[in-house]
Amino acid sequence: MLKMPYLLCVALIALAPAWAAEPARSSLPPPPEKSPSQAEAERALALAEGGDAAAGKAAYEVCSACHLPSGFGRRDGGYPKLAGQHATVLIKQIADIRAHVRENGGMHSFAMELRGPRDIADVAAHIESLCIPPGNGRYVMPDADTRIAEGGRIFDRDCVDCHQPRGQGSKEKSYPMLAGQHYRYLLRQMADIRDGYRQNVDPDMVKTIKKHKNGELQSLAAYLAALDTPGTPCEPVQAQARK
Ligand code: HEC
Ligand code: HEC
Repeated sequence: MLKMPYLLCVALIALAPAWAAEPARSSLPPPPEKSPSQAEAERALALAEGGDAAAGKAAYEVCSACHLPSGFGRRDGGYPKLAGQHATVLIKQIADIRAHVRENGGMHSFAMELRGPRDIADVAAHIESLCIPPGNGRYVMPDADTRIAEGGRIFDRDCVDCHQPRGQGSKEKSYPMLAGQHYRYLLRQMADIRDGYRQNVDPDMVKTIKKHKNGELQSLAAYLAALDTPGTPCEPVQAQARK
């Protein structure tokens, strides 16, 4: 989203000759301050709240502009599929985004519309309770079968300890559910985590993903996107609300 132009700006400024660097740099707003302690505190308070899915429906309205009322996101991976994700995972991501620990320029101001830990817990409970909309963005090139098979082998060897067989994750341990997520979102997150652009991640996960080249990340994403998301599938009528 906003990331490419932003990175391009950063790269241009870094490469610019000395005479150009000064005025350009001073005209940029200062980078937002990361606050891991604030994120951690807000996460703990939100987890203690429990969360009320019915109350969270209203709080989710501002989110549905991008993630859609169904929580389907976008097939092209621009917005992740959220429906059915573990509330514990959602709470951590929302708290991290609010405190700039996970950088998400496009979403930050919307996440700040949540009034605090209770809203965060409620919205997470609402999202977790959503039925699973059918379909998702998948890897559809001619070599899909080979890639999916390769991705499954790597996943079973390197990732299952945390993300669990078939990618359902763990609510208790706050490991994200990956099954049935959009292919391009998965690929972008893995590359961002490996290359240090997404920094709010378990160091053991970073160590594991660093071993993998782009082709292997593609296979992993192809495999995970091809899995069914666990949960209650939406009725056909509800499913029409997706894009
Ligand atoms: C302007 C569009 C937009 C709005 C509005 C928005 N988001 Fe997002 N959200 C995004 C994008 C884009 C990402 C993925 C960012 C990335 O690639 O790192 C994201 C990521 C997330 C994630 C992380 C998902 C994961 O699997 O790690 C959560 C959770 C989330 N959003 C929840 C919300 C909630 C709750 C709201 C409302 C308070 C909201 N979003 C509003 C665009 C939006
Ligand atoms: C030590 C446990 C651990 C291992 C091993 C691990 N992960 Fe993760 N992974 C996590 C945690 C925890 C997160 C959530 C990061 C956060 O807190 O923001 C995560 C996040 C992710 C995400 C982003 C999900 C989202 O919704 O944004 C993807 C994709 C992912 N892992 C894929 C993998 C793959 C593929 C492997 C194997 C090569 C792997 N992980 C190995 C713990 C692990």
